[in-house]
Order: sequence, then C-alpha cells, then structure tokens
Amino acid sequence: MSAGLPEIDGALLQKRIDELSLITEAEPPAVTRVLFSDADLRGRDYVAGLCQRAGLSLRVDAVGNMFARWVGSAPEAPAVATGSHIDAIPNAGKFDGVVGVLGGISAIEALQKAGFKPRRSIEVVVFTAEEPTRFGIGCLGSRMLAGALSLDEARALRDPEGQSLEDLRRRADLTEPLETVALPENFYSAFVELHIEQGPLLEKENIPIGIVQAIAGPSAYRVKIAGEGGHAGALLMPGRQDASLAAAELALAVEKAALASGSPDTVATTGKWEIFPNAINSVPCDAMLEIDLRDTCLETRERALMLMREASVEIAARRGVEIKWEEINCDPPADGDPRTITITENVALQLDLATKRMVSRAYHDSLFMARVCPTTMIFIPCRNGYSHRPEEHSDPAHIAAGARVLAGTLARLSHEPL
Ligand code: GLV
Ligand code: MN
Ligand code: MN
Repeated sequence: MSAGLPEIDGALLQKRIDELSLITEAEPPAVTRVLFSDADLRGRDYVAGLCQRAGLSLRVDAVGNMFARWVGSAPEAPAVATGSHIDAIPNAGKFDGVVGVLGGISAIEALQKAGFKPRRSIEVVVFTAEEPTRFGIGCLGSRMLAGALSLDEARALRDPEGQSLEDLRRRADLTEPLETVALPENFYSAFVELHIEQGPLLEKENIPIGIVQAIAGPSAYRVKIAGEGGHAGALLMPGRQDASLAAAELALAVEKAALASGSPDTVATTGKWEIFPNAINSVPCDAMLEIDLRDTCLETRERALMLMREASVEIAARRGVEIKWEEINCDPPADGDPRTITITENVALQLDLATKRMVSRAYHDSLFMARVCPTTMIFIPCRNGYSHRPEEHSDPAHIAAGARVLAGTLARLSHEPL
C-alpha cells in the first residue's frame, strides 16, 4: 500500500468495463441497458458475480437496488457507501455510472489486497434506473431509498407500453413489498460516488480529479398542446391552430428563458417531441413536449420556469391552441458535505493528484443520497466532455486514479470514530 494508499488494478478494471459494455441492446460500441430489459438483468448478473468473487455479501431490495457489503469489525455501525448505476439510456457510452460501480468494487478489492481491515462496513450500491428511460423519472432507486417517492407514486409508474413498475419488478423476481425500500435513519455514515465528469472542464484544465460540492436540481415537465388538425392542402394558412408550430415556438421560448437567467447553471432542454397524427399531409392537431430544466439555484430556476409559462400563455392565445403543463419531477439541488469533501481532497493530495471543486449539472444518485447521509462525488475527466453517446471515453489511467482516490476515501471514512 504505497503512501498508505492501495494500488488499483487498472487493467482489470478496464477489462470489466469493456466486458460489461458488451451486454447491451444496441450495436457495440453503443450501450443501451434499459431498466429490467434482458441486457439490464444480464448486466446485474455480471456485477453480482464480481461482488461474490470479492467475498461481498449481496442483498437486492424490492426495486432492484443491489447492495454488496464488505462487513467491517463494527458491523452494527452505519456503513460507508459508494456506487452508481449500470442502466444506460438508448445509444449511450460505456462509462456513465459503470465507472462508479466497477470502480467501487475495484476500490474494495485494492483495500482487501493491501490488508486493510474495515471498521465500519463498506458497501457498493448499484442503484436501479438512475436514467429516466423506462418510467420517465430519474434516480428511481436512490429516490426510493431516500423516501423521496411515495408508494402511491411508485405504484402509479407506467412505461410507454403501459407496463407498471409493480409488474416489471415482480417479473424480475423482486417480490418484497415496496414499503421495505426506504432506508432507516443512520443507515450510512457517508456516501461517495465516482463518476465521469460528463463535461469538458477537467480535460481542458488538465486536472485529474474533480470533487463535487453541489449538484444542480433537476425538474421536468410534460406539456400537451391541443390544436385543430385538417388536410394539409385544403386548410388555408390564416387561422390555423397547428399544435406542432405552437410546440416549436414554445421550445424556442424555453431556450430564451434559460438564456435570460444570465447564469451558466440555468439549463433547459426540450428533448422529447410527439406530434399527432405525424403525417406529412395532415396539420398536426396534438403535440407533446417534455422539458428538462435545471439549476444549482432554485430562485433562478423558478424565474426561468415563470418566463416559460408566460410565453406558453401568450402562444396559446395567439395560435388558438390549448396548452397544459404537467410536472414530472421538481427536485431541489443538493450540497456536497464539506467534511467528506475535505477527506477526499486530502486523499488526492496524498496521491499528488490535482483537484478542483465542481458543480455537477447532471443529476446523479448522489442527489438523493445527500438526503440520507453526508455525500460527495469524485469526477474524472472524459474526452471532449462527451456523454450519453457511444463516443463517451475516459482514459484508463484517469479511471484508475479516480478509483484510487475512492479507495483511500472509503478507507478513511470506514475508520472514522463510531
Ligand atoms: C442523468 O443522466 C442526467 O440526465 O443528468
Ligand atoms: Mn446518464
Ligand atoms: Mn450517471
């Protein structure tokens, strides 16, 4: 254990990342692993196999969160946790989430090999569905662990085919009641998530380690627009009530509202569109948009939302359409825990790795773990900031360095006074 900190087997970690990336519904190098798909279930088996080989005791809760525990000498004390997700949006890359899960297992293996004896247990958590692909809501597993999704809301979840979370989880042999998912108080003493940055800053500034001091609060809205359809040739232009054009204007208003905040932390995206009947010779009578709005500051986020809604009222009146907004989720931002941040920084310092305190504009399971226990994240650089696309890439050396900082941090947290 050089400088008191264990070495990571970077080649083995990279090999596992590559192997897991081949468990995909998409053509490699693209990775698609949607919650409870065949690829997701096989990916879970792959990770469970690694945990078992590392001698970790494995538990899976009613919504599919996996917990792999290295039991310490104080097994009753709140444990130290790390982890992330292995689900991947359609046509994604192989590092988002995976680095935190496989890096967490590697960190534990490195500590085991170095002869470290945990006092508080150390646990790797594989969170269910950090991505919103199946049920339209992000961080499903960590949200439920934090008790931030009511049981009624969970039971009402349906995927685009109308299948419920209840049916799908039972088909995946998860039969315990959902009531058992929320964590009791003081279950964990700290949580540290290793993740690729998903932005360009660390690479640009040539800094190997980012330490997250705040995670932007995400919110999402579904907007339904009802106009009047008709024959594309016969319906004259004046007085049309084209739902698609109202949607287009609204999407531009969304962009304008985010830009008007003047803060780089206000970001808004109209990433999902549906038009009915979606035929070239028919004036669209219905449209549906989904809008993602995030900010590290709740006030500026609220102001941007207000501007969007004002624009929507004006567009509806001028175009003679009805526009209805529905909130999908509206989560507050989270702060990193100062003490956990300092411990992580000190470990990086000991390893001679430069660090930078950062804001995460992407959301992560840490957003919800921060409600449960002191939390921070370790970011590593990724090429061009690419993420959520097959070109996503992090250098093996950066991944190993991140896992090494994680290992050192987990070791210190595990030996914190009980
Ligand atoms: C999670 O991947 C996000 O959308 O931030
Ligand atoms: Mn993601
Ligand atoms: Mn992620």
